[in-house]
Amino acid sequence: MMHPAMTQLYALQFLDAVPDTLSPWRRDWLLLEDSMTKRFEAWCRKVSVTVLFEGWVSYAQVGEEAAFLPEESQYWLREIVLSGDNVPWLTGRTVVPASTLSGPELALQQLGTTPLGRYLFTASEMTRDFIQPGRSGDLWGRRSRLRLSGKPLLLTELFLPASPLYQEEKKWSGV
Ligand code: PHB
Repeated sequence: MMHPAMTQLYALQFLDAVPDTLSPWRRDWLLLEDSMTKRFEAWCRKVSVTVLFEGWVSYAQVGEEAAFLPEESQYWLREIVLSGDNVPWLTGRTVVPASTLSGPELALQQLGTTPLGRYLFTASEMTRDFIQPGRSGDLWGRRSRLRLSGKPLLLTELFLPASPLYQEEKKWSGV
């Protein structure tokens, strides 16, 4: 679970709101409500997912995210790197309480290299309780509590240096 790409995600410091000084471009990426995978697909030929970890963990192993989820003995944990044309753009960590994994949500356990968003944005009714922006050194990230048919999960995302979120100038040059 201590993959180097995850270390900065674990170090994210969360903020109540996006700072006023953040450019509209970065704000737009950070607060995106739609599928991040879909947005990334507009910026490359192929989005791919590398699974770093998928499996059950205990309450004690979940860490501070547990404060945003019901207290249960088991959580499904998924940690991935998402790449655009094989360049790592984002790391994602999803914590799913065992009680969320019933009915159609059981599919969350079978994702493998299928991006989470492909499921979230097509399956059961999805709602979002909040998006909290976060910083880790020079990098930006965010944490969202989502609900599928009312059942919660917590998704944390960190935008890696090569991510289009940091490629503001390309918007103007049309590259
Ligand atoms: C995932 O597949 O777990 C995933 C994909 C895209 C994200 C976050 C997580 O933005």
